[in-house]
Amino acid sequence: MTMPTPTRLPLRCWAEIDLAALERNLRLIRASLPPSMRYVAVVKADAYGHGLHHAAARLMHSGADLFAVANVSEAATLRELGPGWPILLLSPLLPEEDRYLAEYDLAATLSSQDEVARFARVGQTAGKPIAVHLKVDTGMGRLGVWHADAPELCRRILATPGLRLAGIFTHFASPDDDVGFTAEQRKRFLAVLDRCPELDPQKIFVHADNSAGLESMPEDSRFNAVRVGLLQFGILPHPNSLLAAVHTEPVFSFHTRVGLVKTLPRGSTVSYGRTCKLARDSTVAVLCSGYGDGIPRAVSNRAAVLIHGRRCPVLGRVTMDQTIVDVTDVPGVTCGDEAVLIGRHAGGEINITEFSHWADTIPWETLCSVTKRVPRIYRTPLGI
Ligand SMILES: Cc1ncc(COP(=O)(O)O)c(C=O)c1O
Repeated sequence: MTMPTPTRLPLRCWAEIDLAALERNLRLIRASLPPSMRYVAVVKADAYGHGLHHAAARLMHSGADLFAVANVSEAATLRELGPGWPILLLSPLLPEEDRYLAEYDLAATLSSQDEVARFARVGQTAGKPIAVHLKVDTGMGRLGVWHADAPELCRRILATPGLRLAGIFTHFASPDDDVGFTAEQRKRFLAVLDRCPELDPQKIFVHADNSAGLESMPEDSRFNAVRVGLLQFGILPHPNSLLAAVHTEPVFSFHTRVGLVKTLPRGSTVSYGRTCKLARDSTVAVLCSGYGDGIPRAVSNRAAVLIHGRRCPVLGRVTMDQTIVDVTDVPGVTCGDEAVLIGRHAGGEINITEFSHWADTIPWETLCSVTKRVPRIYRTPLGI
């Protein structure tokens, strides 16, 4: 008897990644920006759970100018795809990681005098300057040199052999819900640029806006690049976002299957902790996935899934490998049927923002929480 190999086993829970939609999204976002604006594709955290290799390869094909990742490990994965692509590390480096800047030809985010000395040593040892983007803290309170001190650090970088200033940037703290503070951060960043007349914007990346920042980016912005994460995956940074006008579409959808259908009498309880008591005789479907796959326990008794295109509420607590839903009102549900957790099915839709709301979280975290057990199935790879 031949055993099915794991790759040939039927899928119990999977994510579909529509790479053609990713490409269309990048092109739509680009078309909505001034033609000279460069596009930094933010692909950290495994390209927001979409899979770094596939997503980055498609973004390279679609015309991204620079890739931003969180750490050296992600950068190394990206580097395998192509030697020439500029890669920016967004997180700070540990001292033992410094040498990889030269080895993998990476640009570092630089926030301090200490990093000037460290990265310059790597450049001098390698005999080739290390590219750095100076990060300016205009109010995020995370990475970056405080804006008042930025011009001095900028001059220090320019005067240091072993370093090449490839960019200068800042990051907004509340671009989705605080227009006033975002405007203040823009003002502080512009003031830094004014105090660094030696910077040539033709030669370096000047960037501030992430997805939500694009909403308030003035048409005559003096920045020449944007850093886009969420929006390129077809997700709006908040439900009322003006960016809906760009018409990006979701790249990610999340699917599972019905493993068992059974009836339970009125008054019985469902799942651990008995948090759900049935108000009627019910037909329930046990789905083949749970928090071990990335369905957060927080959606217990709150979420719904689509079966035959109809919304079926989650009953009781999500468990590690199974989730129970009410299919009393959906006739004909049977073992093996598909259930859609996030995405479209037979005319119904559950989008990631709604799903994240049920989990008391944000789409960024939902995407990062889909576990390794969930295979990513790539639709429309290149050449198809
Ligand atoms: C520094 C930085 N820039 C850009 C982004 C992309 O943000 P978004 O996914 O909201 O577009 C992130 C994401 O967390 C970030 O940390």
